[in-house]
This record gives sequence, structure tokens and C-alpha cells, in this order.
Amino acid sequence: MERIAVYPGTFDPVTHGHLDLVRRGLEIFDAIIVAVAVSAKKKPLFDIEDRVRFIRESVKELDRIRVESFDGLLVDFVRARKAGSILKGLRAVSDYEHELQMAAMNRRLDHSIETVFLMAGEEFSFLSSSLVKEVFQLGGTAGGLVSPVVEEGLRKKFFPKVKV
Ligand code: PNS
Repeated sequence: MERIAVYPGTFDPVTHGHLDLVRRGLEIFDAIIVAVAVSAKKKPLFDIEDRVRFIRESVKELDRIRVESFDGLLVDFVRARKAGSILKGLRAVSDYEHELQMAAMNRRLDHSIETVFLMAGEEFSFLSSSLVKEVFQLGGTAGGLVSPVVEEGLRKKFFPKVKV
């Protein structure tokens, strides 16, 4: 049987930390569906189409990956895609409490779906979408932290008048 994992998140925007997790997840699972949450309550900087496009562009060289958006309960999406697992990344201890809550709730909602955690790669353990946005907005570089397509998206958002 094919082992399919859903890797959910807001991905506002996707970083090299997320992409590292996808690559490593592919060593464990036959296929991964990156599930981009609409997350309207979080008021993301990038709309859902951009967030999906950035990931599709960033993983276009990888096989066995699909990128989709979803709204509503994660476990419903996982069931609808006939996936057995939720894939999540853990960085520092600070991630743990919230991730534990979400994993416990998802397990309560559907006992047949397991959440599998991978530790973030050491070089990405400090990296978050929020920090990337903050640094970029303040004129710092996002090179090496996000894909070129995301850098371009950040530039257009924060510095629309600058022509490259
Ligand atoms: O990247 P994020 O913002 O930490 O991702 C959070 C996300 C999208 C995985 C989480 O908010 C989620 O699963 N949302 C879907 C709604 C849901 O199922 N909630 C109840 C279970 S925790």
C-alpha cells in the first residue's frame, strides 16, 4: 500500500526549512501532499494562490509531491486524500507545546491518522516564515533562506517600486 503523508501549514511563504522537510519526508513516505491552509484568520501576507505557486515552483524538480490548498479541518482533508499520516517539522522547544496540542486534537478527531514529526535540519532550526518577512522588509537579505520565486514575491510586496 502506498504511504501518503500530508504536510500541512500556512507557508506564508515557504522557506528552505519547509523544503528540507519535504525532501527528507520523501525518504520515509511514497508521496507527500503539501497542504496549504487558507488560514484566513492569520491574515497571511501572501494570498493562497501565491503561497501554492511558490511551493509548486520550489518543488518542481521533485517527484511524488503534490501541492494543494485546503480550508476546514485537516483530518477531513487527510481522509479525503486517503493519506495515513500528517507530517510536521519541529524546531525548538517553543514549537513543541502547540504541535503537541494539534497532534493530540487531530488524533482525537481521527485515531487512524498518525502525526509524524521530523526535527528541522540544524541549519534551518532558527528559520521561520515570520522572521524571513521581517528581515526582508527591513532591508536584509533572504538569499539562501527562500527560493528565488519567493524572494521575488517578497520584493514585489515590500518594495514594489524597485525594478531589478
Ligand atoms: O504553518 P502553521 O500556521 O503552523 O500551520 C497550522 C495548520 C494549518 C497546520 C493548522 O492550523 C491546521 O491544521 N489548520 C486546519 C484546521 C484544523 O484542522 N484545526 C483543528 C486541528 S489542530
